[in-house]
Amino acid sequence: MSSSIVNTIHSTLPVDDDHPYRTGAWRPNHREWDADDLVVEGEIPADLNGVYLRNTENPVHPSIGMYHPFDGDGMLHQISFANGKASYRNRFVRTDGMQMEQDAGEPLWTGFYDLAQNSKREDGWGARGRMKDSSSTDVIVHNGVALTSFWQCGDVYQMDPMTLADMGKADWVSQFPSPTGVSAHTKLDEATGELLIFGYSTSEPFMHYGVVDAQGKLVHAIDVPLPGPRLPHDMAFSENYAILNDLPLFWDPAMIELGAHVPRFYRDIPTRFAVVPRRGNTEDIKWFEADPTYVLHWINAYEEGDWLILDGFFQHDPMPAKREGTPKPLSLYRSVDLDRLQTRPHRWRFNLVTGETKEESLSDRVMEFGMINPQIAGKNYRYTYNMTGKPGWFLFDGLVKQDVLTGTEEFYFFGEGVFGSETPFAPRTGATAEDDGYLLTFTTDMNRDCSECLIFDATRLTDGPIARVRLPERISSGTHSCWTSAEALASRQ
Ligand SMILES: [Fe+2]
Repeated sequence: MSSSIVNTIHSTLPVDDDHPYRTGAWRPNHREWDADDLVVEGEIPADLNGVYLRNTENPVHPSIGMYHPFDGDGMLHQISFANGKASYRNRFVRTDGMQMEQDAGEPLWTGFYDLAQNSKREDGWGARGRMKDSSSTDVIVHNGVALTSFWQCGDVYQMDPMTLADMGKADWVSQFPSPTGVSAHTKLDEATGELLIFGYSTSEPFMHYGVVDAQGKLVHAIDVPLPGPRLPHDMAFSENYAILNDLPLFWDPAMIELGAHVPRFYRDIPTRFAVVPRRGNTEDIKWFEADPTYVLHWINAYEEGDWLILDGFFQHDPMPAKREGTPKPLSLYRSVDLDRLQTRPHRWRFNLVTGETKEESLSDRVMEFGMINPQIAGKNYRYTYNMTGKPGWFLFDGLVKQDVLTGTEEFYFFGEGVFGSETPFAPRTGATAEDDGYLLTFTTDMNRDCSECLIFDATRLTDGPIARVRLPERISSGTHSCWTSAEALASRQ
């Protein structure tokens, strides 16, 4: 391996930090590396060519007030594969907010768990307002450019997926009518090259939906009127429809009046889905109702005759109560504990002719962060690759391949003290079957104080990784990620 540190960022986190989401497996990285010819245990398949990218909430400063794991500055970790060899890079997402805090040498905004009015700056981003857009939530590659985005809405930052060079902000965000910008979970349809986007805010109509074409131009944007401010996190699409949601977990309207943003789950309000033709208008939206829940992530959607099928993770307890005996710092973060939220795969069916809704659970196993073969997004599919959570924590301890046709599941446990990341599927070059490809995940190994990229054959998950690629240092745990093939990168327009 040849490696070099290309930059070190000045952090003001306390030396004796004891925050559970800034230490241990969540200890952030402040050095930016370039490393080539990485050491491999096993063999990198010759037909794995492309880039695996993962975004990370990686704090440089503590937030003003209480720190939440979603407050950290964005950092991309990248590994690229070509001809059986691997290279690694990591870079901060150099957001405007991060730059301002670097210049000030201190935090300027409160995090998600504190009051907006305690921020030092009057301006800021996010549906709540006066927070930092860290662009730390999501990453996808569209038209050969890596795009990062933030869960509370904001700008979309662009980076070169190979070099991680800063390419500035996507200009189409300023044309999108949402006053807060774009939410994380922009959705890529590889079949058309389109990017489907949404944004939400505390002002009417409360949500917008739009389409960015394959060349990166905003070509469609509509209002999605909601009854009030909502907290959607993700959207879905099929070949012909976009699906937005109005979930009954949102900021208490009376508390917003008082300047506090306190999420509550309203058990008596149904879950609502807005189904709209992908280039349809506000008048074309069809609304469907279902059992009350919150859904962080959708898995996929597709059409079958008059029915639109939507799969996602149903939270059986979206607002878990305090539990006796849980230490305070962890009790505060129980709403990111999959085990407490009871997130299970679920299927909704919407009849586009009669307006009927049907729903059913797809598994008894608690899991989330589902990935599929990206080439069949929006179409009928069979396999999903999901993460299991370490109870009590926001950490992924295992990986499940679920066959949604037969209901069978295969499980791989990373091992005690080893945590993985959201695990995308990389189709094998020349693949013909849906699961003919590889699964990739970055690990944080607390036993060996190191990180690896594990490569699995998706048809043989339980056999364990076929290759382990060593990174130059242990990296923080992190979440959303994507795979993009060398072929797709070469076709940038
Ligand atoms: Fe997410």
